[in-house]
Amino acid sequence: MKCQICKKPSVINLRPHHMSLCKEHFLNWVPKQVEKNIEKYKMFSHDEEIMVAVSGGKDSLALWDILNRLEYKTIGFYIDLGIEEGIGYSEKSKELTIRFAEENNLSLEIISLDDRYNVNIIDMAKIAKQSKKVCSTCGLVKRYLMNEIVIKNDIKVFATGHNLDDEVSFLFGNTLNWQTSYLARQAPVLEAHGNFARKVKPLCRMYEREMAAYALLRGIDYIHVECPFSEGSRTIYYKEILTDMESVSPGTKIHYYTKFLNAKKEGIFDKVDQNELERLQPCSSCGQPTSAGRCSFCSLIEKVQNVQIEKK
Ligand code: AMP
Ligand code: FES
Ligand code: ZN
Ligand code: ZN
Repeated sequence: MKCQICKKPSVINLRPHHMSLCKEHFLNWVPKQVEKNIEKYKMFSHDEEIMVAVSGGKDSLALWDILNRLEYKTIGFYIDLGIEEGIGYSEKSKELTIRFAEENNLSLEIISLDDRYNVNIIDMAKIAKQSKKVCSTCGLVKRYLMNEIVIKNDIKVFATGHNLDDEVSFLFGNTLNWQTSYLARQAPVLEAHGNFARKVKPLCRMYEREMAAYALLRGIDYIHVECPFSEGSRTIYYKEILTDMESVSPGTKIHYYTKFLNAKKEGIFDKVDQNELERLQPCSSCGQPTSAGRCSFCSLIEKVQNVQIEKK
């Protein structure tokens, strides 16, 4: 196949877009698509500072690289969860994130669970009685620490590397169970409220395959293995199903996502959204919004500290 623009041999066939591109034109096409997305959903401008949550994986490192190439002002944020399993998952992903920041002269904030609370995510999941569902505890901790850093540094825009495959697998799971409150909140942009930054997903219309090709062709060194706790997860299963559908009918994923966003715009979830927001109150301990008096993170940290006292 030949590149649609210069007729040199192509490196990638973008079936949903009905085109093939060579390395040079593909590496120019990706940032242009991302910029279009940023503008389409009014995510942020060149005057704002954007905090990018970087996990050391291909999507978030590629996102940081793209925003840098598009000359946005960024600051990276990495959470060290202390996952020693596999190849030393956290250690390795932290090292790759630090190296990327240094090589590109970018600033990076790091929070380590061990330094801060003297615990790792696996022990925390055990204390939360979720040792078989480490990802649930991990999600709670990541959300909390992300909100906390945003408030501490007075960040107005917070970006994550969620790609189209992440978005449609989440959407698929939530439609299967008709989780209307999650569906109501799923969007490329979550507007700021109170002290909380605007949360944006600039890669939400980019296929995972496109991001993997981008990272590889840009020579970005990222962690190739998935988190050891994601093995056998529903998310991965849903991604496989959707990828099967995509191979039979190219464009399925982007069509599914676009139609969902259109339906939302027409207001099918408006009522749900309001009910949800009305119920949220500031946590009595840390001030982050919660539906209980005390948020799940503060309750869990108290349990962790009690276990630590008992051990002494
Ligand atoms: P995941 O929940 O692993 O699919 O990751 C989704 C997005 O969350 C990534 O693209 C990152 O932007 C962010 N993220 C995940 N893990 C971390 C981490 N340890 N530190 C900072 N950001 C993260
Ligand atoms: Fe949190 Fe896998 S990254 S459990
Ligand atoms: Zn070309
Ligand atoms: Zn709290």
